[in-house]
Amino acid sequence: MNVSIKTPEQIAAMRIAGRLAADVLEMITPYVKPGISTGELDQICHDYIVNVQDAIPAPLNYNGFPKSVCTSLNEVICHGIPSDTKIIKDGDILNIDVTVIKDGWHGDTNRMFYVGDVPEHAKRLCVVAQECLYQAIEIVRPGCKLSDIGTIIAKHARGKHYSVVEEYCGHGIGLVFHEDPQVLHYGEGYNRRNDLVLKEGMTFTIEPMINAGKKQTKLNMKDGWTVTTKDRRLSAQWEHTMVVTADGVEVLTARPDEPFYQELK
Ligand code: MF3
Ligand code: CO
Ligand code: CO
Repeated sequence: MNVSIKTPEQIAAMRIAGRLAADVLEMITPYVKPGISTGELDQICHDYIVNVQDAIPAPLNYNGFPKSVCTSLNEVICHGIPSDTKIIKDGDILNIDVTVIKDGWHGDTNRMFYVGDVPEHAKRLCVVAQECLYQAIEIVRPGCKLSDIGTIIAKHARGKHYSVVEEYCGHGIGLVFHEDPQVLHYGEGYNRRNDLVLKEGMTFTIEPMINAGKKQTKLNMKDGWTVTTKDRRLSAQWEHTMVVTADGVEVLTARPDEPFYQELK
C-alpha cells in the first residue's frame, strides 16, 4: 500500500474540487422529478461542470465509462449509466455520483434522491445508509484504523437487518481518481498486515453501499458497468471525500445542510 500524504497547499486545491462536486449535487436537486430521464440529468450535470465550473467530469471516458455522472436507480448498487430512455418515476430512489477534476485534483461525492413519493421502507434504507456514512466520518482522526471504518458501518447496517456490499469500496483520492488505500465498508476484510493507521493529510472517500436484502452483486455483462443486487432488492449509497486533520476530519464535499459543513476560508 502506498498512501500519499497531501500538503496544506494540495488540500486547499482538493477543497475547491470537493466543493465543486458538492455544488453539482445541489444544482441537480430540483431537476430530480418524475418524468425526467437519467440521460437528461447527466447532460445537465455535464454542461454545469464544463461550462459553469470550468472543470472536468472525471467519469467520462474513465476506463471507457460513456457518461459524465453515474445514475444508479433502485436495485442498481453503483455505476449506473445515464440513458435518455431511462425515465425516473414516482417512488424510485436514485443515486447520482459526481466526480469533478479541477486543476488536476478530484472531488468525489454521491447521494440518494427520493423521486416523488417514496415508500417508507425505501426511505428507511436511504436514511440508514446515510447514517452509516456519518457514523464512519465521526470516528475518522489520526490514530483511527482503516478497519474501524468498515466495522462501524457494518455494525449499523447489520443492526438494521441490511447487508453491506463487499465488492466495491471507498478509495484514496487526489491527483488520481482511485488510489491507495482501499476503504472497505465492512471490518472483516483487514488483518494486521494490511490494516492502516490514519494520519493527518490522508485523503480518501467513504461510500457505503447498503442493500435491503442480500449482499451479493451482479455485473451487467452487456454494458460492462451497471452493478445490481443479485436478489433485485433495493440498494442505497452515500459518498463523501475527506481529509484527516490534526484532530479529526474535514469533509471536502460537504453540503450546506450537513452537520460537518464549514464555510470556505
Ligand atoms: N465515482 C465512483 C466512485 O465513487 C466511480 C465511478 S467510475 C465510473 O468511485 F467510471 F463509473 F464513472
Ligand atoms: Co468514490
Ligand atoms: Co463516486
